[in-house]
Amino acid sequence: MRNFKDKVAFITGGASGIGLGIAKAFADAGMKVVLADLRRDALDEAVAYFEKRQLPVHSIQLDVTDRAAYERAADETEKVFGKIHILVNNAGVGAGKSIEKTTFRDWDFGVAVNFMGVVNGILTILPRILKHGEEGHIVSTASMAALSAVEGNAIYNATKSAVVALMETVACDLKNTNVGASVYCPGPVSSNLAVTSQLVRPDHLKNEEELAASPPVKGNPSANDLFMTPEEAGRRVLRGIERNDLYILTHPEFKEGVKARCDAILKAFPDEPLNKERAELLKKFGTLLYNPIYDTQTTPGPMDGKTE
Ligand SMILES: NC(=O)c1ccc[n+]([C@@H]2O[C@H](COP(=O)([O-])OP(=O)(O)OC[C@H]3O[C@@H](n4cnc5c(N)ncnc54)[C@H](O)[C@@H]3O)[C@@H](O)[C@H]2O)c1
Repeated sequence: MRNFKDKVAFITGGASGIGLGIAKAFADAGMKVVLADLRRDALDEAVAYFEKRQLPVHSIQLDVTDRAAYERAADETEKVFGKIHILVNNAGVGAGKSIEKTTFRDWDFGVAVNFMGVVNGILTILPRILKHGEEGHIVSTASMAALSAVEGNAIYNATKSAVVALMETVACDLKNTNVGASVYCPGPVSSNLAVTSQLVRPDHLKNEEELAASPPVKGNPSANDLFMTPEEAGRRVLRGIERNDLYILTHPEFKEGVKARCDAILKAFPDEPLNKERAELLKKFGTLLYNPIYDTQTTPGPMDGKTE
């Protein structure tokens, strides 16, 4: 997708952090942005940035796990801006815990937001993009943690890996349309994730100690001078959509680790001769043996050095 002027983007988790950075980059490119987020106060704060600059913005309070509300949010967006061209499934929650300490409530919460929230977005909005027939794109935020496991982070790694697999498949399924698909796997970005993940957790999915704890203090504990700014993280998403990248990556520091993982998978194949007849049979199952979608990925050049 190359022409962004007056296109409409629906961004979940758009009130804060990376989602807000994406919205700013999109607005700078001439798009109309819809910020969809669970937190009304954060939405109001975020909207002020766009209104001050007279950039077209609309905010919707939405829980991405609520399918009926998602449908209403899509209707509202079409009423306000006419069409949706870009869907950014970015809302997410994090909580690192060693596997034996995780509870079913932890899993239900993580899977509902990080994975089913993405599915809900695609099933609600993709038909609307396909229906109007103009160019479009779907990008979902996974994480570097999806491409190389981070210990003590099972729910996050698993849900984000599922998002990678989902978006790879969405890209295949949409290859003959004018709707592109990307999965965004950023490394560390300064954001509010640690605090917002507690703020947005519904009581029925809290463990007893969380129900007993006092509410988290607002602030930015995930911020670090060496982390990427949300604005730069946002510009990288815009560039990835422009390039129609299957994977939008940010931090080259992770390349060695991801290579080690890919190498480990290759090393695990048994050292045996190929069964040529079986290979021929397996070729009949579409892309089971070889998927040309992976050949589409090229290496982007360096980004501009802007941090704000
Ligand atoms: N910050 C990082 O270093 C980093 C790295 C890799 C991936 N990510 C991913 O980036 C995405 C954005 O996170 P961030 O770091 O900007 O954190 P953030 O907390 O600043 O933003 C996340 C936003 O999602 C919203 N949200 C949470 N649950 C929601 C729900 N059910 N419905 C609607 N909105 C909901 C929150 O209110 C918040 O505004 C997440 O998917 C996260 O997993 C972050």
